Amino acid sequence: MPDPSTSSALLALLAWYRDMGVDHAVGNAPVDWLGRGDASAPAQESVARQAGQPPPPPTPRMPVSRDAPPARPAAPAPQFQVPTPDAALTAARDAARHARSMEELAAALVRFEGCTLKATAKNTCFFRGAAKARLMLIGEAPGRDEDLAGQPFVGRAGQLLDKMLAAIGLDEQRVHITNIVYWRPPGNRTPTPQEAQVCRPFLERQVELAEPELLVLLGGAAAKHVLEVADGIMRIRGKMRDLTIGKRRVRAIATLHPAYLLRTPAAKRLAWRDLLAVKAALEA
Ligand code: URA
Repeated sequence: MPDPSTSSALLALLAWYRDMGVDHAVGNAPVDWLGRGDASAPAQESVARQAGQPPPPPTPRMPVSRDAPPARPAAPAPQFQVPTPDAALTAARDAARHARSMEELAAALVRFEGCTLKATAKNTCFFRGAAKARLMLIGEAPGRDEDLAGQPFVGRAGQLLDKMLAAIGLDEQRVHITNIVYWRPPGNRTPTPQEAQVCRPFLERQVELAEPELLVLLGGAAAKHVLEVADGIMRIRGKMRDLTIGKRRVRAIATLHPAYLLRTPAAKRLAWRDLLAVKAALEA
């Protein structure tokens, strides 16, 4: 067990918090929320702190007798009403089907409460680029930079993606860029199949409205989900396929995720092959 007072143990703890998505400090002292049984205090405290006022006094706690068993804290009131998976999927299909334009689809996504990722995300990340485009790129999920900006692929992986597109003569105005889920998973974990599934009606409607001829699936999570295959990305990538998604027939090719290419530069030659296949398909 590492000594928690050493700086390396503290740095490891901080790194763990960051990976779990805890990237914002709200106070210097830990608070036992269950013990307080008080749901409204945090908002008041943080509002008072921002306004430069002293925080309100803590809610008095029930005196506890030495002999009595500790009082069970009142269950905290649920903050988010989470529908059942079936109800969420039905609501997603209904909302997506009724969207007649990309603007209406964006509004439907902002209203949608059926994906649990939304509870921890700061923003909805819908798409970047042109509303209609011959080429649509689909990644895995927004990361921290995307969550802050409310747009897909704006961080380091996005910058590499832009360079890859520039290498085949494309830029943001000529492509439509999105993800299989619209909210950042905590700690940047891979979205679960359920999270991707509940977003799928929106993705299908997005493909219908963007009217692409060709989809590029970035990385294993996007490729497996969209193509509904179980193989790893190294087996899936580089093959041009015919696909029906929603009511749209498109061609689709999977390639390596730009974040993987940042970690594994030697794999860029494979991605370059895939990009040349994309260029050839668009020129045919
Ligand atoms: N990685 C993704 O898959 N999507 C983003 O939007 C950013 C990073």
